[in-house]
Amino acid sequence: MMTELVSVDPHAPESARIARCAAVLLRGGLVAFPTETVYGLGALADDEAAAMKIYAAKGRPSHNPLISHVASARAARELAPVWSELADELAEQFWPGPLTLVVPRSQKIPRSVCGGLDAMAIRVPAHPVALALLRAVGRPVAAPSANRSNELSPTTAAHVLRGLDGRIDMVLDGGACRVGLESTVVDLCGDVPVILRPGTITIDQVRAIVPTVRMRAESVAHGQLRASPGMDAKHYAPRARLVLSPRDGLRAQITESSGLIGVLTVGPVDIPSRDGVIVSALSDEASAYSAALYERLHWLDEQGCTLIVCERVPESSEWDAARDRLRRAAS
Ligand code: TXA
Ligand code: MG
Repeated sequence: MMTELVSVDPHAPESARIARCAAVLLRGGLVAFPTETVYGLGALADDEAAAMKIYAAKGRPSHNPLISHVASARAARELAPVWSELADELAEQFWPGPLTLVVPRSQKIPRSVCGGLDAMAIRVPAHPVALALLRAVGRPVAAPSANRSNELSPTTAAHVLRGLDGRIDMVLDGGACRVGLESTVVDLCGDVPVILRPGTITIDQVRAIVPTVRMRAESVAHGQLRASPGMDAKHYAPRARLVLSPRDGLRAQITESSGLIGVLTVGPVDIPSRDGVIVSALSDEASAYSAALYERLHWLDEQGCTLIVCERVPESSEWDAARDRLRRAAS
């Protein structure tokens, strides 16, 4: 299969180009497109044969459910058989944006798209290109991150091609993603709302609207965990081995290793790059760090690093998403 690259203006995508991409989706094809979080690999969510192509292209296990993307909260409400007041409030506050809600499944979304569950995940992305595409399609679009299963999520069209060139019909290039980490996933199907996956919308922000919300780990402790496939620890990993270290342990990790080593820090550090060692400082501010993390890991992979030593990030809640992804990458 030839993968066609279509570039659009990220802020004001050309409607003729969007229409061409929408046509590919509407005839059951696979189109990668930018969202504010990461690039998604899209297919019609209400067409089982189309959506199943996503699993084949990614090498994704069939029990791992997909998120349906729609153009507005109203479209989400119309699709969902049950739309609680809570869902309404969260949508009102955070959509379009990096929040995914898990709600009872619509008959229109095949069970196989939802990992065999009677719940579906839904989100309205905050990206002009994604929204234009969703409006042009007029149907829910299933989209996991546009990477091979167990590899790093893409935040540029070049990253998408690195993993999926020749396996999908089209890549819509709308520049680099602003948020850089996958959406916060909130499950609204149980007795209390549970954050299944932390994102840049923090638990504190969600708690301001839903005081009872819990992190998944706390629910496990309370014995209230519902099935949540796709939360396997190993995920989001670069090709290089990744180890986590506190700041004062970084030097020891470097001297103990051979091969090209990447060092990723939280803010500047006084360790110089030298032969065999690339030291790369990210921001010490959580949202800037998160926006750059995957890009930098992709880059260190491309340099040929065999080991990436990554400084541990702070414990506060705005770092939850980055900490979660790094823990998975290191596992
Ligand atoms: O930011 C994002 O969410 C990106 C962009 C493209 O929107 N998408 C994304 O999709 O990260 P993916 O497939 O990589 O992650 C979806 C995760 C699943 O692995 C699963 O943990 C959770 O969302 N999920 C989806 N449907 C679910 C369901 N019915 N019940 C429980 N969890 C679900
Ligand atoms: Mg993913």
